[in-house]
Amino acid sequence: MKTILVTGANRGIGLEICRQLAQSGHRVILTSRDEVRGKEAAASIKGTVIAKQLDVTNELSVQRLYKELNSIYGTMDVLINNAGVGTDSELYRHNRYERAKLFVKSHLSIAYTSIRNLMPIAKKAGITGKRPGALDIDISSVKNIMETNLYGPWRLIQAFTPMLEKSNDGQIINISSGMGSYSQLSGYYSGYSLSKYSLNALTIMLTNELSYKGIRINAMCPGWVKTRMGGPNAPLNVSEGADTAVWLVNLDGSTTGKFFRRRKEIEW
Ligand SMILES: NC(=O)c1ccc[n+]([C@@H]2O[C@H](COP(=O)([O-])OP(=O)(O)OC[C@H]3O[C@@H](n4cnc5c(N)ncnc54)[C@H](OP(=O)(O)O)[C@@H]3O)[C@@H](O)[C@H]2O)c1
Repeated sequence: MKTILVTGANRGIGLEICRQLAQSGHRVILTSRDEVRGKEAAASIKGTVIAKQLDVTNELSVQRLYKELNSIYGTMDVLINNAGVGTDSELYRHNRYERAKLFVKSHLSIAYTSIRNLMPIAKKAGITGKRPGALDIDISSVKNIMETNLYGPWRLIQAFTPMLEKSNDGQIINISSGMGSYSQLSGYYSGYSLSKYSLNALTIMLTNELSYKGIRINAMCPGWVKTRMGGPNAPLNVSEGADTAVWLVNLDGSTTGKFFRRRKEIEW
């Protein structure tokens, strides 16, 4: 039985990773930034699942959890950095929705007459289907994404290394994305892509330092998965999305510093 901490696990891929790991007999620390949602999620899973509050952007929250878990268990076998925030387009869709609501309110009479009349005015108001490129993206939204998707995992790794070091086979798994692959970078989804590209870079950078401490570190891409982030059109379900992370947990050996998708190594 391994002791495994999963971040952002109250829903989506994180919750499914916890479900599969608990089912195969591991002790799972299911963490969520909202304590109640985390407890509800943990109650939905059979096995040894302990719910704990954790906001990966909050240093105090990370330190508090480390102290508590260190005093209870002393050692941690696997850290899975899963918590993540969505794509720029998701944020953009949200902003567009907010703008559209305001727009429809102020043009209610035209909206009732014909949608065709509305289209040219909507275009003028900037309510179009176009995604923002790296030239248009709001930098503050990029900073928010980096705070969760890059600095969050980094913070967790720094904090939990002393516990991972005490395991016979300490391991870190970073849930990344193909959108962070060097060859796939483009101006669209720039904030999200940059955050995952940086997470991949962090994985590479830490490989040697961690190997001196007997800790392995790998990154994986779950594929395009039906979750709140992936949306309803994604081809994979959460079980398929969680599969490679769970496979990595159970993989014996010395595999470290690599990037995986569908149980196969892929290019950074
Ligand atoms: N779905 C895909 O197609 C896809 C593809 C490639 C990679 N990924 C990666 O897979 C991981 C999981 O994504 P998902 O699809 O399962 O997304 P999701 O359903 O949107 O779940 C994201 C999880 O992260 C949590 N979270 C966000 N900010 C947090 C913070 N500051 N502290 C702690 N938890 C936080 C959320 O908690 P709240 O409920 O409190 O918001 C939620 O539990 C992410 O790293 C994502 O980038 C997903």
